[in-house]
Amino acid sequence: MKHLHITLVVLSISLFTYRFILTLMASKKLDSKWLKISPHVIDTFLIIVGISLAVKLHINPMEQLWLGEKIIALFAYIFTGYYTLKLARNRPMQILGYLGAMGWVMLMVRLAMTREVMFLG
Ligand code: HEM
Repeated sequence: MKHLHITLVVLSISLFTYRFILTLMASKKLDSKWLKISPHVIDTFLIIVGISLAVKLHINPMEQLWLGEKIIALFAYIFTGYYTLKLARNRPMQILGYLGAMGWVMLMVRLAMTREVMFLG
């Protein structure tokens, strides 16, 4: 299950990075159907598998705050991703949005590996 989780994490970040590059290039490929649908499917699976992993390992996000913080960071990642691809109106805003989203990813990886909270502790 953990391998599936990491695979989905890598897929989610790769697809987001690919769409970010296409956005910078103002490419028509962004309109392709698979690129519009697959990120939602992968991100939904990522959340489902993440929650299943937490249930299986008996990790309650209200008690183990690193997981609570990870879930908050996930929402921030999704929002900064949406900002980067849809709301940002020029290149500097898109690049800032992408760096912001990657910062949240780094926090999530750190939280998963160390189980040490950064903000909620
Ligand atoms: C982009 C989002 C995410 C990233 C980058 C990420 C990253 C990771 C990584 C790298 C690990 C492996 C840690 C290790 O080596 O033991 C992991 C494990 C885990 N993740 Fe995620 N994850 C994400 C989303 C989620 C979500 C949404 C949830 C739950 C709602 C979740 C729950 C867990 C749990 C319970 C583990 C197992 C921890 C353990 O075995 O100690 N993750 N995650």
